[in-house]
Amino acid sequence: MISDIENLKDEIKKTVITDKESLEAFRLRFLSRKGKLQSMFGNMQNVPKKDRSRVGKAMNEVKELAETKFNTQKKALQNKKKTRFKATDDLTLPVSPEYAGSLHPLTQTENEMKNIFLRLGFDVADGPEIEDDFHNFTSLNFPPDHPARDMQDTFFIRKSDKKEVQDLVMRTHTSPVQIRLMKDQPPPIRSVIPGRVYRNEAVTAKSYFQFNQMEGLYVDHKVTMGELIETLVMFARLMYGSDVKYRVRPSFFPFTEPSIEMDVWWESDSDGQWLEILGAGMVDPNVFEACGLDPETYTGYAFGMGVDRIAMLRYGINDIRILYENDIRFLDQFTG
Ligand code: PHE
Repeated sequence: MISDIENLKDEIKKTVITDKESLEAFRLRFLSRKGKLQSMFGNMQNVPKKDRSRVGKAMNEVKELAETKFNTQKKALQNKKKTRFKATDDLTLPVSPEYAGSLHPLTQTENEMKNIFLRLGFDVADGPEIEDDFHNFTSLNFPPDHPARDMQDTFFIRKSDKKEVQDLVMRTHTSPVQIRLMKDQPPPIRSVIPGRVYRNEAVTAKSYFQFNQMEGLYVDHKVTMGELIETLVMFARLMYGSDVKYRVRPSFFPFTEPSIEMDVWWESDSDGQWLEILGAGMVDPNVFEACGLDPETYTGYAFGMGVDRIAMLRYGINDIRILYENDIRFLDQFTG
């Protein structure tokens, strides 16, 4: 009996398990109800009483051996399935592409505009999105009763602590950063200022309560209107191609005198129209004075461009709202 047990032990050790099939064969042969271990346990009643505990112990050892082998091999086979490569795999094949994020079309457009102005000798500045009345309106020469201060256009914020109540605004344009730059540093100043602005407007396909602008400011001695127009034409050529069709019209802003606007001709499906892309002008003497600069000493120009409009033209987007919804199906199209 003991030698039978030893033989079974050897047999178990020598049985090779390589796959699911041989694992199952092992289980049937040794561990199942009709297997060799079970039948050996069935022979126990033939063992003389005095030998029973010795034989029983040996049989339990064999059983344990078989169970351990079965369980370890089963685990090993499961892990094998999880490995990524088989010996027969072609390791030179390209891996399947993982999902890559992309820059938002507004960011891509803003980056391109920034790069053009960096080439033209501007640096990049920024300023706060929450402003006070002085920076957003008064210093920019808005008369006290100017309609732009009206509740219709501006989001007002009331900030109060125990000592005082302060009326703030969500900036309605990037022009207040002009004031901050002129108060912060002596000319020459030659900066562009990209940023988000807010207006209390009804949301439609064409207007949104927030959008993006890029302000430009150049202040030095003897800056001329000719230089302003030359810079804007240069921008239009670099942004839209050297054959871009543009026009410059007189306009009005409280903080520039004289003021202009620039349109580019936009052609779509044999149809075309003039689209306004920016407002600009020579810095008004009152603005210099609000910043403590002598208007007899300094001259300058400023411009403000709509980044959303420029992005919509570039990508053929006809609803501004889609730029702010973060719909992955839309954003996915701007990778690379
Ligand atoms: N701030 C103006 C606007 O939001 C644009 C502008 C900027 C015009 C600078 C002239 C000079 O419409």
